[in-house]
Amino acid sequence: MALRNKKSDQPIKVKKESLKKSIQIFRYIRPYMGYFVLGMFFLVLGSLIFMALMGLPGEMANIAIGSPKFNLGLKVYDFWWIFLTILLLQGLFSYARTYLFAVVSEKGMADLRKDLYQKIITQPVAFFEEKRVGELTSRITTDVEQLQAAFSVTLAEFIRQIVILIAGIFIIFIWTPRLSTIMLLTFPAIVISAMVFGRFIKKLSRQRQDELARTNTIVEETFQSFTIVKSFANELYETIRYGKSVDRIVKVSLDFAKMRGIFFTFIITILFGGIFFILWQGALMLEKGQMEAGDLFSFIMYTGILGGAIASLGTLATQLLTAVGATEKILEILNTPSEFDINQSGHAEDLKIKGDIDYKNIRFAYPTRKDTNVLNDISIHLDAGKKVALVGQSGAGKSTIVQLLMKFYTPDSGEITIDGTNINDFNITAYRKNIGIVPQEIILFGGTIRENISYGKPGASDEEIIEAAKQSNSWEFISSFPEGLDTIVGDRGMKLSGGQRQRIAIARAILKDPKILILDEATSSLDAESEKLVQDALDKLMANRTSIIIAHRLATIRDVDWIYVLENGQIVEQGSHHELTEDENGVYASLARLQFDSANHI
Ligand SMILES: Nc1ncnc2c1ncn2[C@@H]1O[C@H](COP(=O)(O)OP(=O)(O)OP(=O)(O)O)[C@@H](O)[C@H]1O
Ligand SMILES: [Mg+2]
Repeated sequence: MALRNKKSDQPIKVKKESLKKSIQIFRYIRPYMGYFVLGMFFLVLGSLIFMALMGLPGEMANIAIGSPKFNLGLKVYDFWWIFLTILLLQGLFSYARTYLFAVVSEKGMADLRKDLYQKIITQPVAFFEEKRVGELTSRITTDVEQLQAAFSVTLAEFIRQIVILIAGIFIIFIWTPRLSTIMLLTFPAIVISAMVFGRFIKKLSRQRQDELARTNTIVEETFQSFTIVKSFANELYETIRYGKSVDRIVKVSLDFAKMRGIFFTFIITILFGGIFFILWQGALMLEKGQMEAGDLFSFIMYTGILGGAIASLGTLATQLLTAVGATEKILEILNTPSEFDINQSGHAEDLKIKGDIDYKNIRFAYPTRKDTNVLNDISIHLDAGKKVALVGQSGAGKSTIVQLLMKFYTPDSGEITIDGTNINDFNITAYRKNIGIVPQEIILFGGTIRENISYGKPGASDEEIIEAAKQSNSWEFISSFPEGLDTIVGDRGMKLSGGQRQRIAIARAILKDPKILILDEATSSLDAESEKLVQDALDKLMANRTSIIIAHRLATIRDVDWIYVLENGQIVEQGSHHELTEDENGVYASLARLQFDSANHI
């Protein structure tokens, strides 16, 4: 089957097996099956009653002219209560099914959303690198909404229209067989010609959509990056570009309008031509006494309803197929294995590690770039409570080394052990609770400073938070804000300076109180004076912990126990600061000379 999706106008291809697979999604409906079945019952009943209702006016007319079709002994006068009863019943059923389907779809889709969120958040880092965030977000928002619409309205409406269609055809063929046969011979021709024309119109409509999307991209891009537009003084350029794009829309739209005009003229002519032809045939039969006037009336009513049902079935089918597409994408995520079982992470008994770290002959390439080895035969040893520094040029693989320790990725060969145990053997949640990191790129949540610091220890008291803020040397600027800890940091922390963000991240790590501490350029955004203060705080923080420090500025790592110098994913030198500076031809010594010389020149 191939129908077109309204939004993107891309053909939706639905294969048999994907339909079969999508049935899985019904497991979210199963807990509410009772409501669903009851809803279906009211739906079918309501539709049948509706069809009966449509036959009443014709029969009433027949009774009025003295030739009733059904011998029920009814008078025209009786019709007021018949209409009223049926209308009331119809209203009641319609209400019941709407509510019942809402219960099923709201609750079922809420369960689905929760599962989906849990599934996504427990995926490994590599998963997030392969997918775009926007894509994942739309899985949990747009796709689930589409499913919800399908379960609350579309599916019900689809079934209702099918009941109407079957019942309607059945009724008119029993009621007015001759006229119905004439109609059956006429209408398919009309429907097919309209479909052919419609396809052509759709192509133009898609062109218009594309043009519109292109224009919107200009708006989005330039508004989002307005600082770039301004700094290049390209306002006029962008205005002209936008203007041209808008003009193109007008042109395509007008072409589209012309075609639409022709289409409607055509449809109205041929459709009403067909209708009048059938009516004319009906009138002829009436004249010859082959049919009652009320029957002709009923026939018109029913064919109208049938036409409506056929028209809406197309749209409904498209919507359902879109929902099947959404279901497939959702199921793909639901069937991806998680990094760990979140239901067990709550019970993971506390893991108390000492902090001896050993990297043994680690080789690693990022999963997204398999053919480039980032780490080559890295071996690092670190006794509990000691401090080790990683230095080396940008891109050497320093951050990668600590990401492996966080178990964000798995090495391709070699192993990392903590206290002699391979880190793969630990419960991942319990293990990560032992590691604190101040990352190179600090990203804060959009909320308050309090929320961001207490992320290191959910439920921390204000005293603890303030203490951590003081130790990280951030209390000074926090308390200078009128809102203090309640200051909103803005999207990703944009309302704070780089150095302030860094100190918040340090406070967060202090509060976590981890056994192993990782500082990836933790003081790089600070001025010399703040750096000194934060360094003091960090020194205190590092006491009694195993620490890995990554730094470009060698002055900050003079006191560490051991330094590894990296180049292109390999360790080229190691030793204490003192030893490494001794070796005049060494990489470290030349780096040190460069840095301290330039410092002297300032
Ligand atoms: N997520 C990733 N996917 C693919 N390749 C990556 C990824 N992250 C880093 N790399 C690549 O791995 C190499 C090492 O990167 P890494 O971040 O470890 O360097 P670094 O030593 O921390 O550098 P810097 O001092 O600039 O922070 C680089 O060549 C980089 O392009
Ligand atoms: Mg780095």
